[in-house]
Amino acid sequence: MDKKIIPPPFKIKMVEAIRLIPRKEREDAIRKAGFNTFELKSEDVFIDLLTDSGTSAMSDNQWAGMMLGDEAYAGSKNFTNLKNAVNEVYEFPYVIPTHQGRGAEHIMSQALIKKGDIVPNNLYFTTRRVHQELAGGKWCDVSVKEATEAQSTFLFKGNIDIRKLHALILKARKEGVTIPYISMEACVNMAGGQPFSMGNLWDVRNISLKYRIPLYLDATRLVENAYFIQQREKGYWGCSIKEIVSQICSLCDGITVSAKKDALVNIGGFIALRDENVFQKMRELVVVWEGLHTYGGLAGRDLEAMARGIYEMVDDDYIAHRVKQVEALGGRLEKSGIPIVTPIGGHAVFLDAKRFVSHVPQKAFPAQALAAAIYVESGVRTMERGIVSGQHGNEPYDGLELVRLTIPRRVYTREHLDYVADGIIALYKKRGTIRGLKMIYAPKTLRFFQARFEEL
Ligand code: F0G
Repeated sequence: MDKKIIPPPFKIKMVEAIRLIPRKEREDAIRKAGFNTFELKSEDVFIDLLTDSGTSAMSDNQWAGMMLGDEAYAGSKNFTNLKNAVNEVYEFPYVIPTHQGRGAEHIMSQALIKKGDIVPNNLYFTTRRVHQELAGGKWCDVSVKEATEAQSTFLFKGNIDIRKLHALILKARKEGVTIPYISMEACVNMAGGQPFSMGNLWDVRNISLKYRIPLYLDATRLVENAYFIQQREKGYWGCSIKEIVSQICSLCDGITVSAKKDALVNIGGFIALRDENVFQKMRELVVVWEGLHTYGGLAGRDLEAMARGIYEMVDDDYIAHRVKQVEALGGRLEKSGIPIVTPIGGHAVFLDAKRFVSHVPQKAFPAQALAAAIYVESGVRTMERGIVSGQHGNEPYDGLELVRLTIPRRVYTREHLDYVADGIIALYKKRGTIRGLKMIYAPKTLRFFQARFEEL
């Protein structure tokens, strides 16, 4: 049988209606939203590719678990189930639940970073970086140069540049500056959903051991990273996703996780650790900001859905279908000559706005303008991942200028994604009509969520 199309390893039991509002209404809606797709109303969106965060369809098994919420303030059964799931899949002994990923990042940063410390990272994620900086740390990029080269076809753009990391550590030692930990992200979101290789992780681990600097992973999209290792790295073909996930975790001191991605829930996150002292320190902080250490800002039912999602996410058929669905959308766009980031990422296809709307200079926010134009064209909501998301204060920024088409897990069918591709291909043909934008309002931190624009 022709294996080109992998059918989803699930069937649909419940549906939610969606509606494409007329073009004129879409034009009004985006203007009202200040040309920021975060400010659109969900009911005005036809297909929502804003994010894969918290937008997954839960399984019947997870929904059944929601009815088994033990809503005790302390020591709920569901916490035990979550702890068991994390022990079994990620293989860390200590678990602290948090309301979502940034709750975990907040606690980790506050517990480990002192003013003046340096934190090496493979590129950045917005919330992780902001929490490192709010704790007084200095974010430092040690990613490989390919991470910010949209057209590079390097298979492991999520790798850390070992020489850069080494040089940074030596310099910090000489200057007496502390590096509290090495921060590494799986399937680097801002590089386009790009994985690190197991080989690179081993190299980073060796440095971490040599200089006694702990290694903490942002394991939010670890399963997708594990899938790419299975498919691309010598020696891993034939290993199960679960085996690869456990091998990755065995090389780290701890992880922070937004369970709203891999773990197939609408809300939730956690920290998982190996060191008891670090665990104690973070456990003291979670009660201040999130909630008691056995619920971390979540209801018992949320903990249960997360526990069950953790087992489901390492199903080999599920994750193969998920990543291949993203790849199919990207492949269609690429074949039609649309400029995208290569290789295609694990959770999203990223359009390269610098090439798509090459007539719009970066100071006129090409990716922001393109995301708005895609919405007007097709009712599809996407997200800017360029200078609006990436620029920090007055720091010069010349990195990627991308629009992210993020695929929620188990939500859309091939027809939906074909419709998305058709809309983008149609828009590309008339790309000259897309106008740049002027920023008229921006908050101080994480400005992309609420910034407002006008058309030039
Ligand atoms: N780390 C990564 C790699 C993420 O992508 C996110 C969230 C977080 C941490 C923070 O987790 O949202 O649960 O607080 N990413 C979302 C996105 C917002 O759309 O990519 P959170």
